[in-house]
Amino acid sequence: MLKARIAVLVSGGGTNLQALIDAESSGVIHSGEIVLVISNNQNAYALTRAEKAGIRAQYISKKELKSQEAFENALIDALDQNKIDLIVLAGFMSILSERFTSRYDHRIINIHPSLIPSFCGQGYYGLKVHEAALKKGVKVTGATVHFVNEIPDGGEIIAQKAVEVLDGDTPAILQRRVMEQAEWIILPQAVEMISYEIISR
Ligand code: GRF
Repeated sequence: MLKARIAVLVSGGGTNLQALIDAESSGVIHSGEIVLVISNNQNAYALTRAEKAGIRAQYISKKELKSQEAFENALIDALDQNKIDLIVLAGFMSILSERFTSRYDHRIINIHPSLIPSFCGQGYYGLKVHEAALKKGVKVTGATVHFVNEIPDGGEIIAQKAVEVLDGDTPAILQRRVMEQAEWIILPQAVEMISYEIISR
């Protein structure tokens, strides 16, 4: 059966990438196939996870390429060469320009560790999101999968899942709970849903 060709863009540990790899092995993702992992960080453990799973892994350095435009051109080359249908940002710590996002309209999705529109947009990444949630004192937080457009965390929402905030939570504890109870569940589900839509067109 024809499958959507998926690229996952990463910068760090890659636990969301791992959730996607595992979901493909277990059949939760069956309409798409991860064929490429790209990191903008040479030391990202996500690259090792990709290699272990037999997925082509590529490092593209923004520093060496010097400009945002050159960096994005290198991304586009890699994506086009691999005939990518769907781009998944899974802990990818680099903002993409409108030139890039409009080229892949409704073909880029991102996982954000809060219930958008809370604690999102410029400056809200990694632990900062959970620090802000704890500072505000919300009792419920969660994760959101959304399409990516030119506005950081501003694209159409695809899936959300709520997670309880508990007394004594630190940003790191809350981050882990949000990953376990929301991110690693809704990201694979959303990837399957969008892949299915792509191959059904
Ligand atoms: C996750 O919290 C994700 O929501 C955010 O960055 C983190 C990436 O973690 N966008 P990992 O690299 O998938 O472990």
